[in-house]
Amino acid sequence: MPADTIVAIDGPAGSGKSTIARRVAKALGFTFLDTGAMYRAATWRALRDGIDMEDREALVASTRAMDLSLLSDGESLKVSVDGEDVTLEIRAEPLTSKIRALDGIPEVRERLVELQRAFGAQGRVVAEGRDMGTVVFRQARCKIFLDASLEARTRRRAEQLREEGVVVEEAQLKVTIHARDESDRNRDASPLRAAEDALVLDTTSMTLEEVEAVILEQARAVF
Ligand code: DC
Repeated sequence: MPADTIVAIDGPAGSGKSTIARRVAKALGFTFLDTGAMYRAATWRALRDGIDMEDREALVASTRAMDLSLLSDGESLKVSVDGEDVTLEIRAEPLTSKIRALDGIPEVRERLVELQRAFGAQGRVVAEGRDMGTVVFRQARCKIFLDASLEARTRRRAEQLREEGVVVEEAQLKVTIHARDESDRNRDASPLRAAEDALVLDTTSMTLEEVEAVILEQARAVF
């Protein structure tokens, strides 16, 4: 696997990973891999089929049977499950709070990691998620861990949602993001943490452009 041409970006919800990863991919001429979209897609499929979210075996079987396609045109990402376009639906809030029913199951992670590595095998990929640098692309030579205060992440997510026309209650959003942090950091399977060889960036008072410039400098020094 040409993991030396992979940029691995990890961080908590609302840290700006997705926006940054897209911009970095575009600037480097790399493909963008949104692994959160894969956990979202697996959750969507389970909900579609009315699977009991406590039934681990059924969740694993559903994830293994999923026909998943991620098509990136550089700007946007189209996600399809079993031939159906689910790009918008997988971002909806009721679904987001159910992802944790799957993301702590080792067999679910194994299957999605397998797909992620197959995607990465082509090389020249910017991959973002929670365990890119610690598990999936451990050999990547450019690893970034993006962080920001809970307040900053809440503010950014609220702005993003408002731009999409969604009415947001910031206090509630903050509680939701905090709950996802706890779940991401404290699960047994691949908990969210920075890889030892990752560059940790606290972006609380950085602009998007500044974050992008630091990552590009790091990437260009390596590739
Ligand atoms: O990045 P996101 O918000 O789209 O991710 C959705 C959820 O998927 C996140 O709360 C945790 C899970 N996830 C994960 O466990 N491992 C990844 N590599 C990416 C996402």
